[in-house]
Formats: sequence, structure tokens, C-alpha cells
Amino acid sequence: MAVAWAECGACTVLVDGVAARACVIPACGVAGREITTLEGLGSLSALHPVQQAFIEEQAAQCGYCLSGMIMMTAALLARNPDPSEDEIRRELSGNLCRCGTHLEIVRAVLRAAQLTAQESSRRNKP
Ligand code: FES
Repeated sequence: MAVAWAECGACTVLVDGVAARACVIPACGVAGREITTLEGLGSLSALHPVQQAFIEEQAAQCGYCLSGMIMMTAALLARNPDPSEDEIRRELSGNLCRCGTHLEIVRAVLRAAQLTAQESSRRNKP
């Protein structure tokens, strides 16, 4: 029997807020659950802080990996708003970037944590 394994992480989506590899999830396994794709994270007029950070840090070369990297980052920051570089590297270790923009991606995740904290602080001001 052939077994399908996720390989690169580029298809990562959020299922009820948890990062999951879309390529190995049967549609019947997510019926009735909330699915968020990159397109659902933010919009052109209101980018999600993670999307904004990846642009600011120029963390893309070809862009193949970015959807998965951004979705993994969004899930990470929802669980841990202030991750260390080691935690970021560990979290993204299953997401492949063939272009080698890992340094920029880690910087983007750190920047996304800052932007998320700023946005949260702004929202909590009276
Ligand atoms: S930017 Fe090309 S694979 Fe990551």
C-alpha cells in the first residue's frame, strides 16, 4: 500500500487554527472544520502582520515556500507570541526553502512577532 507523506510544507493551511499539510488531508477529514489558507489570512488592503513582515524582510526569492512558511508562522505566533530563534528554526524545520532564504525567513518571523505585539497593544488601548 502506498503511503502519502508530506514533503515540503508549501501547502500548509490552518485547520481550526492548527497548521496542517493540505496535501495529505482527505477532504472528508476536515468537513465542518474551519480552514484558513494564505488568502484568508489578510487582504491587500489589510495585510496580516506575518504577511507584512515577510514583505518588509524581503523573505522571498521564488516564493514557492512562502505560503507554507507564512501559515506555519501564523500558527506559531498564535501559540507562542514571542518565540526565540531556536524555536522558530525548530518550527519551520519541516518547511523546505529551495532558494535558501532561511535567514530572511527567520528575520521575518521575528519581525512578525513584533508587529503582532504592536497590533495587539494598539487594540487593547482604551
Ligand atoms: S523562496 Fe524559493 S523556495 Fe523559498
